[in-house]
Amino acid sequence: MRRRTPFTAFDPAAVSPWNVQIDGLGFGGDYNPEQWPAEVRDEDVRLMREAGVNVLSVAIFAWATIEPREGELEWGWLDDTMDRLHEAGIQVALATATASPPPWLTRRHPEILPRLADGTVLYQGARQAYAVTHPLYREYALRMTTRMAERYGDHPALALWHVDNEIGCHVPRDYSESATAAFRVWLVARYGTIERLNEAWGTAFWSQRYATFEDVLPPLVAPMFANPTQQLDFDRFSSDALLDYYRDLRDTLREITPHVPTTTNLMTTSATKGMDYFSWADDLDVVANDHYTIASDGERHVELALSADLARGVAGGDPWILMEHSTSAVNWQPRNRAKLPGEMLRNSLQHVARGADSVMFFQWRQSRAGAEKYHSAMLPHAGTGTDVWRGTVELGTTLQRLGEVRGSRVVSRAAVVVDYPAWWAAELDSHPTQDLRYMEEVRAWYSALWHQGVTVDTVPPYADLDGYDLVVVPTLYLVDDDGAANVARAAERGATVAVTFFSGIVDEHDHVRLGGYPGAFRDLLGVRTEEFFPLQVDERVGVTGKAVGGDATADLWTEKTLVRDGTEVVAAYDDGALAGHPAVTRREVGAGAAWYVGTRLDPAGLASLVGRLVEESGVAPDVAAPAGVELVRRRTADGATTWLFALNHTDDGTTLDGLTGTELITGTAVEGSLALPPGAVRVVRAAASH
Ligand code: GLA
Repeated sequence: MRRRTPFTAFDPAAVSPWNVQIDGLGFGGDYNPEQWPAEVRDEDVRLMREAGVNVLSVAIFAWATIEPREGELEWGWLDDTMDRLHEAGIQVALATATASPPPWLTRRHPEILPRLADGTVLYQGARQAYAVTHPLYREYALRMTTRMAERYGDHPALALWHVDNEIGCHVPRDYSESATAAFRVWLVARYGTIERLNEAWGTAFWSQRYATFEDVLPPLVAPMFANPTQQLDFDRFSSDALLDYYRDLRDTLREITPHVPTTTNLMTTSATKGMDYFSWADDLDVVANDHYTIASDGERHVELALSADLARGVAGGDPWILMEHSTSAVNWQPRNRAKLPGEMLRNSLQHVARGADSVMFFQWRQSRAGAEKYHSAMLPHAGTGTDVWRGTVELGTTLQRLGEVRGSRVVSRAAVVVDYPAWWAAELDSHPTQDLRYMEEVRAWYSALWHQGVTVDTVPPYADLDGYDLVVVPTLYLVDDDGAANVARAAERGATVAVTFFSGIVDEHDHVRLGGYPGAFRDLLGVRTEEFFPLQVDERVGVTGKAVGGDATADLWTEKTLVRDGTEVVAAYDDGALAGHPAVTRREVGAGAAWYVGTRLDPAGLASLVGRLVEESGVAPDVAAPAGVELVRRRTADGATTWLFALNHTDDGTTLDGLTGTELITGTAVEGSLALPPGAVRVVRAAASH
């Protein structure tokens, strides 16, 4: 990969906040007028005003419209669009238009197309058919970016640069020749000498020793398991290569328009494994995220919360932009359900509760043609006499009422540690079980905390953990010494720390930490595991102990754990190969405590255990809410004003007690109790700090 000198002329403090001209929260979506005849723009702008739209992402997939033939540029439609939006008081997150190279480019230069691990070429005809590492593609992308910046850099509607689109969405791993060359450059930068690579990759095994970097390939389809560290480094490289692409475009924009902030839209769902977004954070002037609920997920609002909290985690707790979600159905799931009445509003405000300062959609007007014509939009096929349109207008009005929360931060005293390299490494092949899915473990713990009403921050292992009284570390298979020490320090300082099975097993090179598992956390937890006993698909074992609610069951994973003096066994296996052995342990550490959970508990057992941890760490919510009612608080930096978001995900109305303040959506005073109708959201501003 090309090395670049760091951009030194840029002063983030001098950059205007992206939403400087917006009064309150952002509201809008992707706007693709190139799909429509010019006359439609009149109606678009009129309806945008009616809905209260104030920000739009423009020109994301517009390359082939702007440059229909190489070097022939058609700007008229985009000039007109930018001018009209400005006249209407709408800000633009303007794209680099690079998200889909035009067919003439890939026909003329098929070498820029990406490849799968088996050599299959990914052709043009859909989108994102480019290899980010290819120098020629880079040249074309930078040229397009430069043109956009030069043409619109001074346009008054321009508020934010939107680099490419969902970088890595369709091609998180590219195995093309240019990627191979860039991988080698990346490896030289990481290891310096081939001997050090051989050491790190453990190539004495299976005669894999490399003589030179030129011999190294990406992990292509091979007769048997590819070298695990090679696979892991290729994952790291691929995330870095995508980030490098972003940086290159971003730096080009900064040179021409140093006053305009830059971002790209992330996809922090539990399904997006390709990019180490925590390592991208410093390069984003503001974090933007896209989220779509999954129809088949019975608790999709919990998955939404996790995605939002991941976005906030990447933002380091700062407010962020919800760059895309859907008003109703999407088009890319096996069965695409429409949203129920109130669901879209609740989804939107759930993101706001969790730190979004802007609510945007894919897309403004539902397409007539193309692969996304059955994807909902703010303005649906059926027009304005529809529930979806009325929902759009209602959301616009609601966001205006909530404008004052802008800039405030979410209050949380619990953290769940999440790490992308640990995710990649935990799911490599040739492991004790092929059934382990890292994000399922994160999600299980996250959900258990959600159901206890605990708002959590999702943070990487190297984050400052000082503000947290409860730190949960699910399946952190790979951790370096600093990360492990950071977690241990949190317990010493007084936090309750819970580490779960298959954590701390390997170092950053995926080499096992010797002396017994979980190597990196053995001392902290006061346990030593000799062997793993993963379970068969339908196998269950019993676990007994007060902390797990008496009798619980476990699946997926068990292990033969021994405890040191001073480590308490709080739950043990009561049947199976490990009957009588510890399943859950606890140890007092400094001013805090360290728990080890050596198995995967059933939801009820986990709920009991999490209840214990919440009680011990004192992070229980201060307002009681029935099951399915979500409470999240945002607060001004000085703590003088707080906003409690109450979201009712159930079909039953309820009343929350102990609340005083002003409810912003209905504009009513709250004196002691708040009525929360079925499916409704309420936001209570309180003057006192909590
Ligand atoms: C992603 C893309 C959009 C659109 C939506 C559909 O978020 O960024 O262009 O394809 O998916 O859900």
